[in-house]
Amino acid sequence: IACFKLEYKISIGNELNMEKLRIVGGNKLSGSISCSGAKNAALPMLAATILTDQKITFKNLPYLQDITTMFEILGSMGAEITLNEGMDFIISTSKLHDFEARYELVKTMRASILVLGSLVARYGFARIALPGGCAIGTRPVDFHLDALAKLGAKIELKNGYIEATAKKLIGCDINFPGVSVTGTENIMMAAVLAKGQTILRNVAKEPEVEDLANFLNSMGAKIKGAGSDEIIIDGVDNLNGTKFSIPADRIEAGTYLVAAAITGGNVTISNVQAPRMNNILDKLKLSGATINIGKDNIQLSMKKGSILPVDISTAPFPGFPTDMQAQFTVLNALSKGSSVVTENVFENRFMHVQELNRMGCDITVKGSNAFVKGVGSLNGAPVMATDLRASASLILAGLCANGETIVDRIYHIDRGYERIEEKLSYLGADITR
Ligand code: EPZ
Repeated sequence: IACFKLEYKISIGNELNMEKLRIVGGNKLSGSISCSGAKNAALPMLAATILTDQKITFKNLPYLQDITTMFEILGSMGAEITLNEGMDFIISTSKLHDFEARYELVKTMRASILVLGSLVARYGFARIALPGGCAIGTRPVDFHLDALAKLGAKIELKNGYIEATAKKLIGCDINFPGVSVTGTENIMMAAVLAKGQTILRNVAKEPEVEDLANFLNSMGAKIKGAGSDEIIIDGVDNLNGTKFSIPADRIEAGTYLVAAAITGGNVTISNVQAPRMNNILDKLKLSGATINIGKDNIQLSMKKGSILPVDISTAPFPGFPTDMQAQFTVLNALSKGSSVVTENVFENRFMHVQELNRMGCDITVKGSNAFVKGVGSLNGAPVMATDLRASASLILAGLCANGETIVDRIYHIDRGYERIEEKLSYLGADITR
């Protein structure tokens, strides 16, 4: 952990001195890289370690800023986090002395809210800084709080903090007013130790929700229906330790497949689960890519300059993922025609557009639609990242732009892409940090 903390401090230090990525575009990507563990699967599972006093061993945890932040939050409560010689992480929360997620950490990662359900379920108390909005939207947590109250928690908002207390959570039927990934996950974690049965409806069906249910069931929870419209949870008295390997990151894999497509390359991504990526792969095929699916890998090849425009409309799973919207906006920007990209999940997830237009894209945003006119080429430029996936799209644009692109504020990137410049360099990109 010392090395992680040192690395963490260094990377925070970098945030202050604004590390940048320099990309010289024009290289075709080719070769094979391995997909890392999914950030959005790992974060709720790390929060769920609070639910048991026994040790949990994680394999394939990605080395990302958001994971380090979750380590800091658990560590600040008294969790012990160690690394074994196999680079597996072993987490014990048997000696928690504090049940609070401080604003200094929550403000850097909204997903910190995921410790709320576990803390209240296990200790009957949680004090979590209310996550502010972020670049892509206000991102309230009302679904989380209202559902927790229905399970019997008393929720108070004091000085920018959520204070939740409950003697014992009691299972009940909960119909979410809107589909929320972390909302579904938070309440699932709260319900596993509640008294009696909880039925959740209008839930998120993302693969990461299913992964969390599998993880909790491996600890002795009784959850059925994750991934469907209705999740049934029968409360148990306590949960045991477990060993679990983090599933592959479908958004990381999708991002590298788009990188292969826009550079007219030929790339294989291994350690992926293709069935979870059908919505992404279908759109890539429509854009003219050739896709071969192996047992645990996906190969994409594309003839340079032959991208066909594809209309995109984001939606909760199994719809097209909002986390791939910015990447496909770049793909469309280089296609031979016009397309419309509609963002239905977040209210302000086009922050990348003005930066892309500075590189020569021709994109017009009106409300939740981005009207994209394909252009033949882009020009490198100094650009600034604003949120995780927007920064990925700026890197993608830089890979195929003429000349040099400097991407600033890449701490956004380090939150969700493990060693991105190493993986891209390995595929032949000219990219340095
Ligand atoms: C998760 O965020 C992901 N993060 C996001 O990935 C992803 O973009 C998002 O789901 C949608 O797929 C993690 O899993 C850690 P939501 P989450 O609650 O759970 C509204 C990335 O790039 N809403 O499903 O915060 C909300 O404003 C990140 O890895 C409420 O109104 O998203 C949004 O418009 C970015 N009230 C919509 O629902 C609530 O209480 C969907 O949000 C909760 C959400």
